[in-house]
Amino acid sequence: MSLTFPLTRNAQPKTADQVASVLADPGFGTYFTDHMAVATWTADEGWSGSEIRPYGPFQIDPAGAVLHYAQEIFEGLKAYRHADGSIHLFRPEANARRLQTSAARMMLPGLEVEDFLTAVTELVRADAHWVPEPEGEKSLYLRPFMFADEVFLGVRAAQRVTFSVIASPAGPYFAGGVKPVDIWVTDSYARAGAGGTGSAKCGGNYAASLIAQYEGYQHGCSQVLFIEATGKDRVEELGGMNVFLVTADGTLITPALTGTILEGVTRSSVLTLAAELGLDTDERQVHPDELFSGIREGRIVEAFSCGTAAVVTPIGSFRTVEGEWRLPENGLPHTMAIRNAILDIQYGRVPDTRGWMRRVV
Ligand code: COI
Repeated sequence: MSLTFPLTRNAQPKTADQVASVLADPGFGTYFTDHMAVATWTADEGWSGSEIRPYGPFQIDPAGAVLHYAQEIFEGLKAYRHADGSIHLFRPEANARRLQTSAARMMLPGLEVEDFLTAVTELVRADAHWVPEPEGEKSLYLRPFMFADEVFLGVRAAQRVTFSVIASPAGPYFAGGVKPVDIWVTDSYARAGAGGTGSAKCGGNYAASLIAQYEGYQHGCSQVLFIEATGKDRVEELGGMNVFLVTADGTLITPALTGTILEGVTRSSVLTLAAELGLDTDERQVHPDELFSGIREGRIVEAFSCGTAAVVTPIGSFRTVEGEWRLPENGLPHTMAIRNAILDIQYGRVPDTRGWMRRVV
């Protein structure tokens, strides 16, 4: 049976002035709305207790399994306000399916696509006044997540799990806005290995990437690019985003999904839109030397990262201990065309011919 998420209203919601001040400059991931979606799963009873309730802390027992063995997964998607005031989600079914894939890998329970959609829809409806106006590419970032909260220290799949969705008004992910970002290519750390959890959206992957990201900060970069762990012969992805390279003849290259890379919803949307913009696309293995020599010799003329939070963000350079490979400052025509094409759909500035948008308000 499908889950319902009945609303218990927050008796002390933020005032209109407080909401307006957050929406004026939301940043990323700092402020949260008045409500959250929650459901609980047990091995005996399946899902129950689904509701939208006031935003607030969970009570987690010190022996709660997630605190010890990191059995946790999450998603990221956004709600966009269109010029007529309506609110839409972008491809939420893709996030729902990916949560199922991640759950299977991490021995967490499956959540029906329909139940995922109900949870995010009802949360956005409850907090609709938190969805910013479209100016400045603002949106309401939605963070569905699931974690093991059984009180048990044995190492096995938890018998009790919590699913939740929280919402956070968002501006650009990178502080500098759409300016090209510099990327550190780490030689010291790997994000994932064959048979590991690289293709699951689990917190552990992000925890493992932090040290490399800090290495990047120390070299003046805002993100890190990971290379395949064993042979060091394949470009994989950034700390929290997929990567694309654009060749001089207008081909978009992105690392193939080899099981160690997250299958990004924005990545797949970019591949579809690129073809429609008349660009060739090539999903394949990319050797780091191909990246560096391609930039040096003018075969690779643009690069960008993409993800729900980052949308499409141009890359200015790749750096390693050996040097810097800077992309030409040529106005980034393909990157910006892709970026605008995706934003135009998300903000309803062009017709949604692919059925990607789901109206919720
Ligand atoms: C997203 O883009 O939604 C992510 O989960 C990545 C994270 C860097 C914010």
